[in-house]
Amino acid sequence: MIMENSTVERSRGKDGLLDELSQVEEEASRAIARATSSKALAEAATLVLGKRSALSAIHREVASLEPEERKEVGQRLNEVRERLDELVTQKREVLSAREREEQIEAERMDLTEITPSLLRGHLHLVTLTQMELEDVFVGMGYQVAEGPEVETDWYNFEALNMPPDHPARGMWDTFYLDAGEPESVLLRTHTSPVQIRLMLEGRLPIYAVAPGKCYRRDTADARHIPVFHQIEGLVVDEGITFGDLAGTIETFTTAYFGPQIHSRLRPSYFPFTEPSAEFEITCTICTGRGCRTCSDTGWVELGGCGMVDPAVFSAVGIDSERWSGFAFGFGIERCAQMRHQIADLRALIENDIRFLEQF
Ligand code: DAH
Repeated sequence: MIMENSTVERSRGKDGLLDELSQVEEEASRAIARATSSKALAEAATLVLGKRSALSAIHREVASLEPEERKEVGQRLNEVRERLDELVTQKREVLSAREREEQIEAERMDLTEITPSLLRGHLHLVTLTQMELEDVFVGMGYQVAEGPEVETDWYNFEALNMPPDHPARGMWDTFYLDAGEPESVLLRTHTSPVQIRLMLEGRLPIYAVAPGKCYRRDTADARHIPVFHQIEGLVVDEGITFGDLAGTIETFTTAYFGPQIHSRLRPSYFPFTEPSAEFEITCTICTGRGCRTCSDTGWVELGGCGMVDPAVFSAVGIDSERWSGFAFGFGIERCAQMRHQIADLRALIENDIRFLEQF
């Protein structure tokens, strides 16, 4: 009868109480030992040591004993209480350590079970190509610059020596935005407006490349996509010549495509350069022998270039008597296509993992 306190406060005498104490001690010890969880232990401790326990009942009875007997029973009572307290404390430590371990075990995540079944992603081929091209130019001492994809007509056309209604604007099929004056805000058709931004910053000389997205109202086909990337180059310094331009293009071509690939310039026209040229590289598919991709010429066009037109210098307030420069711009997708022999550029935007994971 350890659990329930008897409400009968009849004295059992010294011997009766000592007997009962021994019995209570034994039964309480067993109850503590039986607890298999912290919660069960707390309940057992309340029953064994709490106000309504047999121990408390004995404690109340002790008061009615003679002083000598009271002392003896009182001491024994304290002993039993302390021992039971101690048992509860020990048991609590054991149980909570075990419960903590069980919880850690239950919450453990075995990451090795998941990782091998997941495919690890990587940068897209266009991003990788852009980074590699940037590296080539950084190696030649160029800075990397950026400009906005939403431009004004002034940066995209006018400052590049194409006043309104200039027929050369027809070279670019433009997306206009519904903002400001009609046809004044657009998605840039090339990275050339970054040239203007660089020159307006007013720090000369300039050796910079500017990679980024461009937009043209084109229908996608094997060699064009309407949202694509270009990398623009601009050099402005004293005494820059067309020879520097040709040498730079040849250097970058062999650095990026390898020593068997060369470049050549063919006369062309761009409003912002004079003279202007298109530059071509050896066709990587046939290494110059002639094939369908290069229409049997052995050469593939990569971009445009030329000497910065004095009209552009004057739009940005640079003295063209003292400074001269060259510029170029070419497609990043086209570089990736030539480097990896990709038959159809549209593969780059179809997101077919079987294609993308090859690079
Ligand atoms: N912006 C021209 C285009 O998209 C390419 C180009 C040609 C850039 C000549 C230049 C350049 O910087 O000098 O077709």
